[in-house]
Amino acid sequence: MNRRDAICLLGVPAISALGIDQRRWPRAGQRGAGRAPDVDLTLTASPEEVSLLPGAPTRVWRYGAALHRGPASTVSPGPGTYLGPTLRVRRAQRIRVRFRNRLTEPSVVHWHGLDLPEAADGHPRFAIDGGGEYVSEFEMANRAGTYWYHPHPHMRTGAQVYHGLAGVVIVSDDEEDALGLPSGDGELICVLQDRRFDTQNQLVYARTGDVAVSGRGRGMGMGRGMGGDMARMMETVSGWLGDRVLVNGRLRPVVDVARRTYRVRLLNGSNARIYKLAWSDGSPLAVIGSDGGLLERVRRVPMLTLAPAQRADVLLELSDHAPGSEVRLRTLAFPADAAGRIGMMGDMSPLPQGAPIDLMTLRVTSTRGPRVRLPERLCDPPAVWQLKADAPVRRVPLTFMRMQWLLAGRTFDMLDVRPDETVAAGSTHVWELRNDPNPMGMALAHPIHLHGPQFRVLSRSGGGANALREGIVDTPAADTVLVLPGETVRIQVTFSRHQGLYLYHCHILEHEDMGMMRNLRIT
Ligand code: C2O
Ligand code: CU
Ligand code: CU
Repeated sequence: MNRRDAICLLGVPAISALGIDQRRWPRAGQRGAGRAPDVDLTLTASPEEVSLLPGAPTRVWRYGAALHRGPASTVSPGPGTYLGPTLRVRRAQRIRVRFRNRLTEPSVVHWHGLDLPEAADGHPRFAIDGGGEYVSEFEMANRAGTYWYHPHPHMRTGAQVYHGLAGVVIVSDDEEDALGLPSGDGELICVLQDRRFDTQNQLVYARTGDVAVSGRGRGMGMGRGMGGDMARMMETVSGWLGDRVLVNGRLRPVVDVARRTYRVRLLNGSNARIYKLAWSDGSPLAVIGSDGGLLERVRRVPMLTLAPAQRADVLLELSDHAPGSEVRLRTLAFPADAAGRIGMMGDMSPLPQGAPIDLMTLRVTSTRGPRVRLPERLCDPPAVWQLKADAPVRRVPLTFMRMQWLLAGRTFDMLDVRPDETVAAGSTHVWELRNDPNPMGMALAHPIHLHGPQFRVLSRSGGGANALREGIVDTPAADTVLVLPGETVRIQVTFSRHQGLYLYHCHILEHEDMGMMRNLRIT
């Protein structure tokens, strides 16, 4: 046992019901061993009360951070109410995170989009009980971009994220610095999350635990008349939607902005809602980056489909806007069926998928700031973006059977991993994600996410006319890809150099918690 194993073990005070074998921490990698971390911080998840709506405060769970070592800019307050602190790190920094769980249930932190050693990735088998603590260490290998962190405990990811546990990680590097992108006040972080509240301003969430049990063998086609529990179950199987959309934990915020260029970092942190984003003044979204950082060139699009867990980096030019004018970020209307349907009633939630909403208002003041003009070429394409014609192809059907969502015909098991889910470190594969409707014609859109590397979206075929497709920007730097009903999406992925047990899953968090997730072993 080396030193870092020892640190990890000391950090785990109790053995959960899963048994000790499943919780054995893997051997730490050799890289950087012994070197003092550049950044050392404690991340704590604890209950809190925040004011979200007029009236009573809302009970939430929230991440907090304390920086022990590293640049003071590493930790800054989250962009709003309940969100965790924003963490700013540089590529190649060595980072130590001590996670403290002050909840009354197990939790573990996942670093979404980051390519990390197994012990730091946040697999549910490493969840620690309330009161517990563990330490992980890793080197930041990712390109500059917008990533995020959120819990990943077994069957409770949806509930914990919904109650507030999420934060943004911003990675910077020399290549991006050279572009002179807007920074400081010129950067806006927008985390989009929908929530449902009761009359006391408390969050209302599904009971995913009930679904797996009550769902079995009941058959389909139940409607509103079947009682609240059944309606709630159907909503959960679809993915839990709120009746209000918050931006940075605030309802329709109004933000004063200067006459300058802005860099807007968008994160869809919702459990299940898909947005079709547009600016109210009709100007295109100038997309400069996606999940995995900068694109080679700016992509100007009239609208942008952002599925749960996806990020987009967008430039907004306000230099020529008149003081007093407003630009709103909105999600455009689309038919709820574009996100698919299960059950005869379709979307039964109070605010269905595709409801048009003004999300946030930017109010232009008379203050002036720098205008940023971008070069034609934003970055040198990394080698992993290159097409590999001889990559082996794996078919991964996304299916729905007996009220269960399946990946490659299987449901999640804590340790089970099959030969087709085992790949060599650094090898390149093509995965064909196929979203065929079941025999009753039912299918939903699934944002499929791989832990670890960013992948390249190669192609998208099949599926009928779909109002969400026109907003989809497929890139070579994605960690989450939306597969619409009837579609087959091919991705090319070069797996991590780190070995161990990782995950791939649907990022509709209720689907993930219900088992639309599988292990992936890197050997
Ligand atoms: Cu953001 Cu395993 O997910
Ligand atoms: Cu992830
Ligand atoms: Cu799904």
